Amino acid sequence: MRLTYKFSKEDLSKIPADIVVIQCKKVLGDGKKPGQLLKSDGGMLLDKALGGLLTRVLADEMFDGSQCTSKIIDIHSKIAAKKILIVGIGEEKDLSLDSLRLIGSKITKIANGLRAKSIAGVLQPEKIKNLSPSDRMQALVEGMQLGGYRFDLYKNKKDLEKPTLQTIKVIFGGNPAAAEKATKLGTLFAEAISYARDLVNMPGHDLTPEVLAIEAKKIAKAGHLFCKVLNEKEIEKDGMGLLTAISKGAANPPRFIHLGYKPKKKAKIKIAIVGKGITFDSGGYNLKSTIHMENMKQDMAGAAALLSIMKLLPTIRPSVQIDGYIPATENMIDGKAHKPGDVIRSRSGKTVEILNLDAEGRLILADAIDHAKENSPDIMIDMATLTGGVRYALGEIYTAILGNDQGLIDKIISASKSAGEPMWQLPLEKEYLKGFKESIADLNNNGKSYASTICGALFINEFVGKTKWAHLDIAESAWAREERGYRTKGGTGAMIQTIINFLASY
Ligand code: BES
Ligand code: ZN
Ligand code: ZN
Repeated sequence: MRLTYKFSKEDLSKIPADIVVIQCKKVLGDGKKPGQLLKSDGGMLLDKALGGLLTRVLADEMFDGSQCTSKIIDIHSKIAAKKILIVGIGEEKDLSLDSLRLIGSKITKIANGLRAKSIAGVLQPEKIKNLSPSDRMQALVEGMQLGGYRFDLYKNKKDLEKPTLQTIKVIFGGNPAAAEKATKLGTLFAEAISYARDLVNMPGHDLTPEVLAIEAKKIAKAGHLFCKVLNEKEIEKDGMGLLTAISKGAANPPRFIHLGYKPKKKAKIKIAIVGKGITFDSGGYNLKSTIHMENMKQDMAGAAALLSIMKLLPTIRPSVQIDGYIPATENMIDGKAHKPGDVIRSRSGKTVEILNLDAEGRLILADAIDHAKENSPDIMIDMATLTGGVRYALGEIYTAILGNDQGLIDKIISASKSAGEPMWQLPLEKEYLKGFKESIADLNNNGKSYASTICGALFINEFVGKTKWAHLDIAESAWAREERGYRTKGGTGAMIQTIINFLASY
């Protein structure tokens, strides 16, 4: 549900909201002091109006204001609101856009948990740390909206307990125009991320390559983007032998999707983005373990992020040309499916011995990248749930980034910082390429090294050529096995904000 924001200059104590939200910061020292209410957000004033009740509660219960902790206090007189929610914001030095997203999601969850319809709070007009009120507002809105994300498409609607929170009253002393714009932007981002989450969470039988293509067409129509979809025959005719090979075992036919955005003025540069679109990865004849194979519906998270990015472009309007490509297929088993050891000619002409049918992502990306190169992009980026090994390299929250151009990698990592999407670079170690060359074909698709995330990137690199390129392995970051703050369980919508920040930086 979309939350609505109303800006006003009223007195916080006079607002008849279900909950008034105030902040509490952590004080430096021995850690044994209660947290401190703020003057600037009306907390101290409310405390005064309530005869010091809030400070007493903080001291009695040793609430120290650590980030994302909270305290609810029921109020029955003296102020118009029914309840006060005190949110710990930690020490000022730890405040960041992402901590505000986390705080925002916490507020939504508490409000819905208490069945509150309206909340109110102060947006301080001054800069806090280096963060302007608009930046803080946008991050809070993103967190509040995403914290309320649910995937209930398959739930029986009559049994659903609907979220209650609808309105947020923002008391703001400054000129509200910029802050109001920030709430619109925050809502836009949150809804784009929710859209990608929906696609990732949707089961493979409903989210087929054809459905991805239909979504792409809808996005193109609404945003006046270029859109071309190739069907299975056209994919084969285009020479995408590797994509064709992987699609052989599937009953649902493959699609190759191309979406294009151009700025009004002449584009500064051309950027191609490729998103892995395996709508279900069974592993093919290198069949995956059946334990949690259901999660392999997420193997199109790169495609989902790309669709969401393309959907945002007509509003964000960056000054670069962006072509998005999605090779979309299922990876299944069947009498027609390829067998381990089969040799396939890629679109580039290189032959590939498919030693492992479960290393299918790099195959379809190789053909897509070769296709994308025909438009002579200045930069190529691919986003892919490519290797389970990224979990062992970097754990649950990081996206691995590899590539052939340090400047590009640094620029993307820098864009990821304010997006709150941790990234870490792994080396494109050429030594490990040798394992791919031990083959009856030009290369095999498996390699030999334990460094599977690096190997995946090395294989793709063989098809990239001289174009500047960055590979984002989102196999862990695109999916939360359990809830992490505003990242609800399931698809996370990783890399949408990072890439939008990156594109907007030109
Ligand atoms: N889609 C998987 C990678 C994956 C694993 C994504 C877990 C999300 C969660 C990919 O196609 C794959 O199976 N990769 C193999 C490569 C190996 C066979 C070289 C892997 O990582 O095990
Ligand atoms: Zn696989
Ligand atoms: Zn896969």
